[in-house]
Amino acid sequence: MLFFVALAAVEIIFHAKTFAIARPAQNLDPPFYVGCQNPVLNGADRANATFVMLARNRDIGGALSSIRSVQDQFNHNFHYPWVFLNDEPWTENFVTQVSDLIAEYDANAIPVFEVIPENMWGYPDWIDRDKARSSMDNMKAQDVPYAGKESYHHMCRFNSGFFFDHHALLPYKWYWRVEPSISFTCAITYDPFVEMERHDKRYGYTVALWEVGKSVPSLFRKIADWKASRSISTTTLWTAMMQPSYLPWPLRSLAAWLPYHDSSGDSWNLCHFWSNFEIADMDLFRSSEYRDLFHYLDQDGGFYYERWGDAPVHSLAAALLLRPDQVHHFAEFGYTHSPFQYCPWTPTPDELQHGGLVPSKADRKGGHKNAKYLGCNCKCDSKAEVIRPTCFNRLRQTVM
Ligand SMILES: *[C@@H]1O[C@H](CO)[C@@H](O)[C@H](O)[C@H]1NC(C)=O
Repeated sequence: MLFFVALAAVEIIFHAKTFAIARPAQNLDPPFYVGCQNPVLNGADRANATFVMLARNRDIGGALSSIRSVQDQFNHNFHYPWVFLNDEPWTENFVTQVSDLIAEYDANAIPVFEVIPENMWGYPDWIDRDKARSSMDNMKAQDVPYAGKESYHHMCRFNSGFFFDHHALLPYKWYWRVEPSISFTCAITYDPFVEMERHDKRYGYTVALWEVGKSVPSLFRKIADWKASRSISTTTLWTAMMQPSYLPWPLRSLAAWLPYHDSSGDSWNLCHFWSNFEIADMDLFRSSEYRDLFHYLDQDGGFYYERWGDAPVHSLAAALLLRPDQVHHFAEFGYTHSPFQYCPWTPTPDELQHGGLVPSKADRKGGHKNAKYLGCNCKCDSKAEVIRPTCFNRLRQTVM
């Protein structure tokens, strides 16, 4: 008996060890620049890139404040174009106010205002609407954020599978997603698109945090099954998004039926990139692999029967389809989207060695001895809560 218990314990330890991340010998994803630059303009060497904002007419106030922040902190030097998408026709008020604001910075800019076609926004015909409605009511009763709102589900599906095919975005390769009511709290004095391209990066983020588990009970299982069926090899970033089961071997696979577990009974740790800010290469989403993944997820119906967000879909896809070093953390971009913010700090050498990307909360409160801003002229938000370092530290181990 004792022998079997010992054997099981040894097996569990070995199993858990297969989830350890081998950290690279050097930092594979340092910031492109630290501190303020005399804007690095690259002359004619601009990227094939645009800003994209999805908004409703009533978001006008938040849209204006986001645009102002982006223009002030970055785009008054770089002059990238803006594309605005709406599922309904734009009001003249929205178009005029936004155009006037952009013209204050750049008289030659021609912002584009487009409507999303019906085939990209709304229920596909295989969705059982009664079932969708009752799932939404259920999720709402369980306080899953926004899950009761049909349009929120349409939006998550659009951002997961369609935005990059919208005709207003087809002329571009790179996008920077901006949401209403966000702000950048540091100046950005170099061109992130050009640097992404130069450094072979495909997907960039500022915030990594935990997903609300109740919004995605079966998403991870579906994606893990897709990964297995397409024989996609496991990257360290994928592993970093998982946690091992500590059940003994014969029981482990029974756990496969729990939310966000894969068929072996190990689970997603719910860490993902917050997609309301993204700078990425649309060719990632336009690839046949990503289209196949999205189509598979879309057929399943979880965008409606659950509340799958585009953030976990993009994040898990990036972990599957990219090398970890093709995913870039904009460690020097201060960013606020209420109620959370990311504020750039430099970890101490000791923290770095232990996988600490950002100092712990306690350290920060007391004023971290060696913490310095990575960013340029940062004025972090005094009200929004600073994102905890746990997810960052886990995911960043793959590259530093
Ligand atoms: C920009 O990228 C898009 C999508 O890859 C491509 O169709 C277009 O030709 C590119 N434009 C330029 C000027 O390179």
